[in-house]
Amino acid sequence: MALRNILTEGNSTLNKVCRPVTAFDERLATLIDDMKDTVVHANGVGLAAPQVGVLRRVVVVDLGEEIIELINPRILEQEGEQDGLEGCLSVPERYGLVKRPRKVRVEAQDRHGDWYEYEGEDLIARCFCHELEHLDGHLYTEKAYRMLTEEEYEELMNQNAEDGE
Ligand code: NI
Repeated sequence: MALRNILTEGNSTLNKVCRPVTAFDERLATLIDDMKDTVVHANGVGLAAPQVGVLRRVVVVDLGEEIIELINPRILEQEGEQDGLEGCLSVPERYGLVKRPRKVRVEAQDRHGDWYEYEGEDLIARCFCHELEHLDGHLYTEKAYRMLTEEEYEELMNQNAEDGE
């Protein structure tokens, strides 16, 4: 397992549509394991393969108790609405306000090709939507109805630092 370099906004790989995974092989397993290491190391909630330069439909999401792998994921159902702050490892030091469904049901394969369903609410639902959009070449900044100003960002960081004490 190893850390992968995270691409940032402006790199054209982030704007490309990813291809489905067809080979459930050792190479895929290594990619997934590296992505899990990378998202934990970067303190992220989720990470999509194009963010590490691989144009395949692979996402990892940290649910807290475990990090799940979503291969060829798609949203089956969504309901409700939530409005809140969103960030992205590929858009460092910025946050924006984005409206998302409150609850999302996703279907995806694991590294062996077996299909599973996952249900996410609140932050996880937001994360599912955000990460799946990466696979189609979209960043949340396109969806944000407002990005935080530099002052608001500083304030948020100070708040988080205090909360962490
Ligand atoms: Ni992101």
